[in-house]
Amino acid sequence: MTARLGVLLSGRGSNFLALQRAIERGELPAEIVLVAADRKAPGLEAAAALGLPTVLCSRRGRTRAAQEADLLGALENAHVDWICLAGYLRILSPSFVDRYPNRIVNIHPSLLPAFPGLDAQAQAWDYGVAVTGCTVHLVDHQLDHGPIVGQHAVAVGEASSLGALRARILEEEHQLYASSLRRLLVEDWRIDGRRLIFSKESGDSA
Ligand code: GRF
Repeated sequence: MTARLGVLLSGRGSNFLALQRAIERGELPAEIVLVAADRKAPGLEAAAALGLPTVLCSRRGRTRAAQEADLLGALENAHVDWICLAGYLRILSPSFVDRYPNRIVNIHPSLLPAFPGLDAQAQAWDYGVAVTGCTVHLVDHQLDHGPIVGQHAVAVGEASSLGALRARILEEEHQLYASSLRRLLVEDWRIDGRRLIFSKESGDSA
């Protein structure tokens, strides 16, 4: 079955585009049915240029509740099954998250639980870690916290500068987001405490 994805973003949207390319290559049994942003964002323009449905739900001069109500309305009208956060810079309220339990996915540019929050790449660089990377996780009520779907490691030593490290991590992000989402869509899985456990692929008889 083709999953209906809603993508939320605030910025350039390279992760959104990586998901769209994976769909076009036939690697993800999904369709992006809405791209939403909380501000004018290059990613939203890129989505419109591809002919995808877009919506701008600005927070300007409005309460979080009002902005989220608009966003939820748009996602519901689009009959979204899954929400992919792709550089969305607002924290979703618990009541929003509860509308899509274990159906909101985020990508974060560090190996969580290390370096949650903003500019995780700079946090890792400044801390002097030897290894960092990126994480795809389900979204729960806490920031950058829900069960982990997948992680890719990046050796910091490969990068000559913070900019180079960001670029290396981003390369991994693009692969990890598509492959992790694919697993969520095609494999059987369950949550046990904090752990997301994949079992056999749906349809496998072994
Ligand atoms: C990525 O680094 C992602 O991990 C983080 O925000 C950034 C978004 O980049 N959550 P892009 O807009 O997808 O290029």
